[in-house]
Amino acid sequence: MSILPFAGRASAPQTATRTAGTRAMSDDKYISIEGIARRYPAPGGKTSTVFEDMWLPMRRGEFVCMIGHSGCGKTTVLNILAGLEAPTEGVVIAAGEAIEGTSLDRAVIFQGHALLPWRTVLGNVAYAVSSRWRKASKAEVEDRARKAIRTVGLSGSEHKRPSELSGGMKQRVGIARALSIEPKILLMDEPFSALDALTRGTLQDEVRRICVETGQTVFMITHDVDEAIYLADRIVLMTNGPMAKVAEIVENPLPKDRDRTQLHHAPGYYALRNHLIDFLVTRSKTLRDAMPVGYDQRNPPVVRPTLSEADAAAIASTDPVGKRA
Ligand SMILES: Nc1ncnc2c1ncn2[C@@H]1O[C@H](COP(=O)(O)OP(=O)(O)OP(=O)(O)O)[C@@H](O)[C@H]1O
Ligand SMILES: [Mg+2]
Repeated sequence: MSILPFAGRASAPQTATRTAGTRAMSDDKYISIEGIARRYPAPGGKTSTVFEDMWLPMRRGEFVCMIGHSGCGKTTVLNILAGLEAPTEGVVIAAGEAIEGTSLDRAVIFQGHALLPWRTVLGNVAYAVSSRWRKASKAEVEDRARKAIRTVGLSGSEHKRPSELSGGMKQRVGIARALSIEPKILLMDEPFSALDALTRGTLQDEVRRICVETGQTVFMITHDVDEAIYLADRIVLMTNGPMAKVAEIVENPLPKDRDRTQLHHAPGYYALRNHLIDFLVTRSKTLRDAMPVGYDQRNPPVVRPTLSEADAAAIASTDPVGKRA
């Protein structure tokens, strides 16, 4: 896992057609993806389009997960939100400002580690803190860094170097580093995918607790349906690429105070899980080939799978009358 919260560290975004500027902030559109496209030059002078005319609003304080098959453009969307890449067309507004590059307001946690190997845990986190609060005293920087380290359960390991840490511990440092700069928006690209199941569960619990406690706005990419069900308030389903589309935004009906180990007992869990898996298995492809009549990219459908939908599907698939019809 790595984090890139430092403005100016990444290469400048390429030129794009944008309507930059400040916007009155709405909590319902705290992040607003507005008609973005990403295209790359392809052999033979052609153009390959990852996606185009994508619209997606995200609310302040919500945890959004994006799910879709490999290559549909999830990381591309995250890179655009981070300001690491510019859309070929369209604009993204975050906290009332058009995104025009990286910002300390948006912390990114990637899958691979990018800790500074010669610095200790404390040194790695303090480095991020001091880039955020450049005039802070050494004591103040250390104080903030220690607080973030404590939040991810690494107190006592402050003076270890990355080579002395396990994979899970390194990822905790990455999370501490992201949180220490108090970003307005946290962007995560499959942050737990390389971990064993036990460590992954523990870190999911920690990230969820921290995000609920702090009201953090989060955009996270995952391939793990159960991870999305546990963490997300809403799950964005992407069709397969190329020319991927936001097929649906799925509202998570499970209670906010959900417990990871008891998820499967929560009413609505199986309906939601089946809905997501059905999407990945079949609808992500069929919808890419033909979206339903009335589909509007500007207002992707918002769905809330319910018990009755799952029951109806189960009944329909086994109903002998239905099969005869
Ligand atoms: N620099 C590039 N030049 C050309 N095509 C690119 C470039 N970067 C990404 N792509 C293409 O854009 C598409 C989307 O890539 P992206 O990394 O966003 O997918 P993803 O959904 O994150 O996939 P995964 O789940 O495997 O991480 C892919 O088809 C990829 O080949
Ligand atoms: Mg990716």
